[in-house]
Amino acid sequence: MKAACLREFGGPNVLQYEDVAQPEPGRGELVVKVAACGINRYDLYMRMGAVFTDITFPHVLGADVAGTVAAIGDDVAGWHEGDTAIVAPGYPIDPADWDIKPENHAPSFEVTGTHTWGGNAEYIRVPARFVLKDETGLPAEQVAAMPLVLMTAVHAVETLGEVRAGASVLVQAGASGSGIACVQVAKMLGARVAATVGSPEKVATVTEAGAELVINYKEGNFADAVLDWTNDVGVDAVIDNVGGSVFEDNLRALRPGGVFVNFGLVGGMKATLNFRDLFFRQHQLRGSFMGSMDEFKRGLAWLGEGKIRAFVDRTYALSEAAEAHRYIDSRAVRGKVVLIP
Ligand SMILES: NC(=O)c1ccc[n+]([C@@H]2O[C@H](COP(=O)([O-])OP(=O)(O)OC[C@H]3O[C@@H](n4cnc5c(N)ncnc54)[C@H](OP(=O)(O)O)[C@@H]3O)[C@@H](O)[C@H]2O)c1
Repeated sequence: MKAACLREFGGPNVLQYEDVAQPEPGRGELVVKVAACGINRYDLYMRMGAVFTDITFPHVLGADVAGTVAAIGDDVAGWHEGDTAIVAPGYPIDPADWDIKPENHAPSFEVTGTHTWGGNAEYIRVPARFVLKDETGLPAEQVAAMPLVLMTAVHAVETLGEVRAGASVLVQAGASGSGIACVQVAKMLGARVAATVGSPEKVATVTEAGAELVINYKEGNFADAVLDWTNDVGVDAVIDNVGGSVFEDNLRALRPGGVFVNFGLVGGMKATLNFRDLFFRQHQLRGSFMGSMDEFKRGLAWLGEGKIRAFVDRTYALSEAAEAHRYIDSRAVRGKVVLIP
């Protein structure tokens, strides 16, 4: 089969479109024919060798797969060839961990395409228990834009952020793949949403996704804007995928007792925490990584019901994976980029 393969870590050019062996399903596994595979910034970090270095080459990235069942292993019930399928964007890769709930607390839980081959290929092999029937009725490129960011958004916003109707929420990087999903989930839960962007072109997209206030942080301090918006109180929750560079201002924008959820670090891995402010202001700091199968299913149901939607900025042929990575790196993306084999 054709795949966008890594044979070394490095820049986008290390992604080579080439022939590799097509996977066969083992016991309890499905092979899914990939119709579309979304890209996440995680894939860029993986490609650079910035997440794990214990990867066996050749390697195939890609967590977000929509497709159809192509082959069924022994001991798999309920699936037929041709069924439309969505692969879980993360799952425990050690079968010994398969009964741990929530799945993202399992020691071997990881993003799909980390130590197993992902969906930047014509076929992917996955344990059947981590494949769901695609009941959204949506085109494959829209479905493939959602799994990882949807699982993340439900976990970060609803579960950890405790966002409910009437809450006020700040979402960082509102036009990022994960940010735009968080904006939508918060809005759908009945919250008032503020979000940051780094260019004027992104304002309309994030407004369309449901944000009431969109702040271009290059035109003014976002924490000041959020405090203005909340009559100097601060928001109930900050949902952050930027990390170090905005940490202090994120906490400045958060009300006393508010919840800070971080799940990303595009703006740096480290920050300074002032413990005096932490206890006086009673901020709840929470780290978020992906989510559970239940959260994923809940998000997919909302997608199928049209309560949230995919923002697909561009699609690229799988053979153009390097170009697609370059586009994401440019920071111009509004929403998601999807590869089509
Ligand atoms: N823990 C999890 O479960 C989880 C899940 C999903 C994503 N993530 C993490 O969340 C982060 C975003 O991922 P994504 O896939 O949503 O990214 P993405 O779609 O590529 O968007 C990233 C955006 O972040 C903004 N940004 C702000 N400061 C930046 C900087 N210094 N360098 C680059 N971009 C910067 C840029 O938008 P502006 O120019 O508009 O600011 C950029 O377009 C990554 O760290 C990713 O690993 C984690």
